[in-house]
Amino acid sequence: NIEAKVDALVEKMTLDEKIGQMFQASDFHFSSDEDLKNAVKEGRVGSFLNIQGTEKVAEIQRIAIEESRLGIPLLFGRDVIHGYRTVFPIPLGMASSWDTTLVKRAMRISAVEAASMGVNWTFAPMIDITWDPRWGRIAETTGEDPFLTSQFAKAMVEGIQGDLNSPSAVAACAKHFVGYGMSEAGRDYNTTYIPEPLLRNVHLKPFKAAQNAGVLTFMSAFNDLNGVPTSGNEFTLKTILRDEWNYKGMVVSDWASIEEMIPHGYAADKKHAAEIAVKAGVDMEMATTAYIENLKKLIEEGKISEELIDERVANILRVKFQLGLFDKPVENAALSSDTILAGSHLAHARELARNSMVLLKNSNHVLPLSKENGSLAVIGPLADAPHDQMGTWVFDGNEEDSETPKTTFQNLLGNRLHYAAGLEYSRDKSQKGFAAALAAAKSSEAILFFAGEEAILSGEANSRGIIDLPGIQTELIRKLKKTGKPLILIIMAGRPLDIQQELEMADAVLYAWHPGTMAGPAIADLVFGDYSPTGKLPVTFVKGAGQIPLYHYHKNTGRPASKSDVIHIDDIPRNSKQLSLGFKSMHLDYGIDPLFPFGFGLSYTKFQYSNLKLSNKVLNSNSNISVSADVQNIGNFETDEIVQLYIRDRVGSLTRPVKELKGFKKIRLTPGESKNVQFEIAPADLEFFNGEEFATEPGDFDVWIGPNSVDGLKGEFAFE
Ligand code: IFM
Repeated sequence: NIEAKVDALVEKMTLDEKIGQMFQASDFHFSSDEDLKNAVKEGRVGSFLNIQGTEKVAEIQRIAIEESRLGIPLLFGRDVIHGYRTVFPIPLGMASSWDTTLVKRAMRISAVEAASMGVNWTFAPMIDITWDPRWGRIAETTGEDPFLTSQFAKAMVEGIQGDLNSPSAVAACAKHFVGYGMSEAGRDYNTTYIPEPLLRNVHLKPFKAAQNAGVLTFMSAFNDLNGVPTSGNEFTLKTILRDEWNYKGMVVSDWASIEEMIPHGYAADKKHAAEIAVKAGVDMEMATTAYIENLKKLIEEGKISEELIDERVANILRVKFQLGLFDKPVENAALSSDTILAGSHLAHARELARNSMVLLKNSNHVLPLSKENGSLAVIGPLADAPHDQMGTWVFDGNEEDSETPKTTFQNLLGNRLHYAAGLEYSRDKSQKGFAAALAAAKSSEAILFFAGEEAILSGEANSRGIIDLPGIQTELIRKLKKTGKPLILIIMAGRPLDIQQELEMADAVLYAWHPGTMAGPAIADLVFGDYSPTGKLPVTFVKGAGQIPLYHYHKNTGRPASKSDVIHIDDIPRNSKQLSLGFKSMHLDYGIDPLFPFGFGLSYTKFQYSNLKLSNKVLNSNSNISVSADVQNIGNFETDEIVQLYIRDRVGSLTRPVKELKGFKKIRLTPGESKNVQFEIAPADLEFFNGEEFATEPGDFDVWIGPNSVDGLKGEFAFE
């Protein structure tokens, strides 16, 4: 029994040993290897961050187990966000697959590879919700929707942790608790204001899903939430996480987030910061030393009790027992590293990358292209960018392992391929490569232009205020357009970019995100029609940064505009009187529509939705309703469709969003084939936090089954 073992161990520990467990160190904390090993022997460290390597970890773990007084094993933590050596698409790309099975397997592969190098704890999944594409960390999210993110939270936790009895089990970490994705203006680490209903109905949902999936650890965040930094926030860490949710796992602070309560203006000094964090519920401090320097003093001064420390330490030891580290710590650190970049891992990276790409435009069926005939120009700063195609948060991926589009297309087409980068990198402002790019385009039958952002332009601390294609890519695209050749844009980026201008110029646009190690083969699979694109957007695309925030889960307002209300700034007659514009909620330049809505994605075939049926018109607390529709493949390509279910609660005691995603299914259809797709709606699916409690309120609901958040067949039902 783990609880009995935890209690017995805490009982034997000195106060110094307990405080040692609460410290996550890195090698920069020690003057030498000897110094580090002594700290382990003396029980002054509970976990290491970013120390890896099979032999090194095994040796440090051996010292902890065999030479420290109580033999407590260590946690070795590292960010393995979307792959270890085999790099999968960035999480926002993975989310575009809407395929939890593929994503779960990717996370398992990542964990197996990382475990082979001694990692037994990773800081994933990142399950923050964001409505701001300026925020660099949008790349690490699974998008804007609480339901979709909750599904991925579960899949990712299960994938990372695997079977806790197996040597390749890796503890997952639900981060960042909570609200970090609402950083004002998308500027990283910025303030967040989130009223409790929004916090509970949106931002907390994926964390609850992670807990339900058995996640072993949580990470407290950097942001100030409603005036209280999240690493010292008793309401979220104690009232919600521990008291309401009864979470028994461990909470680690984000890097330095305890000390950062000083500049936040919430703690006077390190000692005060330690007191706030330990009382709120942070068990382990990452990277900084507020705890090890101050916890003992705080007990001596009577500000905190040793029982509080015992509670924190018990949460840490519980994870170590659950991971089985006491039984087989050294073997865990000595797995075979043959698994790294295994053929099956690369094949999965290719499959997931292919499934993560979203076809946004395909005029006159310009895609797919023929592999057998014709010549092709491959141009653009992301065509041969082995590092950038992997995206942000890649510590262990190696650019030598990346297969770039240039390499793949060259291998497939030989001298029918004309390559010229045109621009050396995404922000390059030199036109010196333009002539060669235009020459390559002119001698080819079609142009593949690989546009986008370098990996460094998204991720932590890498927020942008302007979210267009950087540098002079648009100018080159404009010149290429003038050649009259079919122009296919393939965009690699860490965020949904403002691509309005480029969209107009291109014949086809495939949004590839940062696809990872296997970008080249996955893109070729789609370009040549071996597979059809199936990805759907997990985020809304805006027409420009001025539209932010724009998301499908928005409220209706008292003056919603319909399409016919929209008037463009250029069409307003001179000397118009104020009344003439209709007093509606819209922008005079952007109108009301996004560039692309949440859930959108094209295919090489066409699907027709018909025959929406509801099993009942009335739902009550003892019954479910099933909603179904027929989906038919009316094109010529066998492929998958992601069918989506949305609802709207028409009247609530607090206003409700105009669309809430409540389900999705991926179905495969051959040409001509039709399938009946059915979803169940239970009363619990309708509940929301109304300011006081979670409740399902009686009233009328709209329901849609459709291919995205805008189109779809509509029905209605009531809850009594
Ligand atoms: O896991 C990360 C976190 O997401 C941001 N700060 C640093 C941590 C550890 O590297």
